[in-house]
Amino acid sequence: MSDAPVGGRTAPSVTTYPDDLQNLVERCLGGLRFATIPETEGLDEAMRYSLLAGGKRIRPVLALATARSLGAEPESVLPAATAIELIHTYSLIHDDLPAMDDDELRRGRPTSHVMFGENVAILAGDGLFAEALHLFTERQRGAPAAVLAALGELLGAVGVDGMVGGQYMDVTTSLPAVSSSPAPATAGSEAADRLRRLHALKTGRLIAASVCVVLALEGVAEPETIPYRRFADELGVLFQIVDDILDVTGSDEELGKPRGSDERHGKVTYVSVFGLERARELAGESHRKAQEALSAVSGDPRDLSQIADFIYTRHA
Ligand code: IPE
Ligand code: IPE
Ligand code: MG
Ligand code: MG
Ligand code: MG
Repeated sequence: MSDAPVGGRTAPSVTTYPDDLQNLVERCLGGLRFATIPETEGLDEAMRYSLLAGGKRIRPVLALATARSLGAEPESVLPAATAIELIHTYSLIHDDLPAMDDDELRRGRPTSHVMFGENVAILAGDGLFAEALHLFTERQRGAPAAVLAALGELLGAVGVDGMVGGQYMDVTTSLPAVSSSPAPATAGSEAADRLRRLHALKTGRLIAASVCVVLALEGVAEPETIPYRRFADELGVLFQIVDDILDVTGSDEELGKPRGSDERHGKVTYVSVFGLERARELAGESHRKAQEALSAVSGDPRDLSQIADFIYTRHA
């Protein structure tokens, strides 16, 4: 993979990824089975089809890296991390549905509704959400109050003040003008503020929760959480700016999903609102702020720093 950042200009010196943490996640996901009777095996197959299609696993890896940064064993938060990936995968299946983004390629494969039909795809998403909560409550160890607080962090990030609310804003916000020649917005303008809120909910909250769930599980004291939370919030912004840029500059093969989906659907994105050049600058600013936040954490955030570089320089 090239390490030229989509944000352009100077590449960060480290663009590797904590593969050992990703391997832990893959092993755990690969061992999951959901059906207990033959009649629901088809649903189990549809759920695992999307789950095991090889996503980047950024959210669970972030959770494991946060644990390591705090001096805890990554394995100790694996059930919570895995639950987050199940929820993320559910959100992708529903995001691709004909009533949503109507996309036919995901993680390099035909989307769930193309493979199994819309009805089964909807249920595969519902099933992944419920099984995520089941996994979290059955397998995540820790003091009950800490596990409950962590679950609260996660559900808050998924609900109306989180991913689902952001998806609602996404499907109910349309561009005022044709997006191929956007009039660049300025920071602080109404369009820019709305975009930031939309993306903070749609993507930012679940990314941030991947860090904050672990802070809650580890019972980290409030002042110590502040730089982690600043990092997590900025990483969510960075992630979606890069996603919007790649929708314009990437290829179906690299992305494993259709390039140009946003423009086809008149989506409000960092590129449609600010233009490509400014979006790249914003990605650079956001990456810098995320790294700055990490410099203030009390633990050893080397993996987190690598993940921020990876998100900034990724091409998929
Ligand atoms: C894509 O997320 C959906 C967004 C929130 C923009 P990822 O880019 O993390 O997708 P996978 O998990 O690697 O497939
Ligand atoms: C979707 O955002 C975010 C989710 C909550 C799934 P996008 O619609 O931009 O995600 P992609 O580009 O299809 O992966
Ligand atoms: Mg979408
Ligand atoms: Mg989409
Ligand atoms: Mg996108």
